[in-house]
Amino acid sequence: MAHVLVTGAAGGIGGAIAEEFAARGDLLTLADRDAGPLTRTAARLGGGAVAHAADLTDPGAPAALVEAAWAANGPVDVLVNAAGVYPSLDMAEVDAPAWDRLFAVNLRAPVLATAAFARLAIADGRPGAVVNISSGSALRARPGGGPYASSKAALEMATRAAALELGGHGIRVNAVSPGFVQVSSDCNPVSAEYAAAIGANPLGRPGSPRDIARAVCWIAGPDASWITGEVLRVDGGSSTGALHLPRIWQPGDTRATPLAAAPAAPTEGPTA
Ligand SMILES: NC(=O)c1ccc[n+]([C@@H]2O[C@H](COP(=O)([O-])OP(=O)(O)OC[C@H]3O[C@@H](n4cnc5c(N)ncnc54)[C@H](O)[C@@H]3O)[C@@H](O)[C@H]2O)c1
Repeated sequence: MAHVLVTGAAGGIGGAIAEEFAARGDLLTLADRDAGPLTRTAARLGGGAVAHAADLTDPGAPAALVEAAWAANGPVDVLVNAAGVYPSLDMAEVDAPAWDRLFAVNLRAPVLATAAFARLAIADGRPGAVVNISSGSALRARPGGGPYASSKAALEMATRAAALELGGHGIRVNAVSPGFVQVSSDCNPVSAEYAAAIGANPLGRPGSPRDIARAVCWIAGPDASWITGEVLRVDGGSSTGALHLPRIWQPGDTRATPLAAAPAAPTEGPTA
């Protein structure tokens, strides 16, 4: 049984990650900003999941969280940094407080939590795994998403840098990069129009938080023991290219586009 610390655990993807680890019999420490929703998530999981409210915009909070989880429930084996904010913020509108708030949650918190985790694991001579939740935005800018995309691109580089330095201590650091998955979020609301526009992918079905959670469990676990510094894109193939563009055709070419003819992929596959 592993001890798994998940930030953003009251959220859509963080909650699904916590559920997936709990279903495998792991011990969970759950962290999020507000105690109320977090306690409800912990109650849903049952079986001794511990809730820890922490506002990760506080510079001292990430390290304090890891240390508290370690002290209360024993050594942490897996750290999942899933807390994140994705406000709509144009590059012409951004100011220092908005930029700093976004980067505090999306970049500084996972980096500082990883540092605290690494210090404790190295002191104890223990291996471990960190999984950062990135985004397809790390690869592609989109209107209103520049600061967010910048934070996730930086998080992917921080993932590789930490993997490089910590591998010798048996600590693997990877990222999982979700494509768009619908969550019900007070913190990160998106409009129906946006959800419809961003949802298309080559596999032809929407992703679910559980699709992301299963990938996180896999990359944190023993079957991925020779993988570090990797960014696993779990997005129905949406990062492969520009699906919305028409097929290139020459004058007089009357063929239908292959995408229009492609059958829809089956719904979510069997559980592993
Ligand atoms: N939903 C998607 O389509 C999608 C796609 C790519 C990446 N992501 C990433 O997945 C992660 C989870 O997002 P989600 O879609 O489940 O959203 P969500 O809003 O449901 O979850 C985010 C969680 O982070 C917590 N959080 C925010 N600020 C915090 C702070 N200061 N301190 C502590 N906790 C804080 C929120 O309270 C919330 O519970 C984020 O890192 C997000 O960037 C989401």
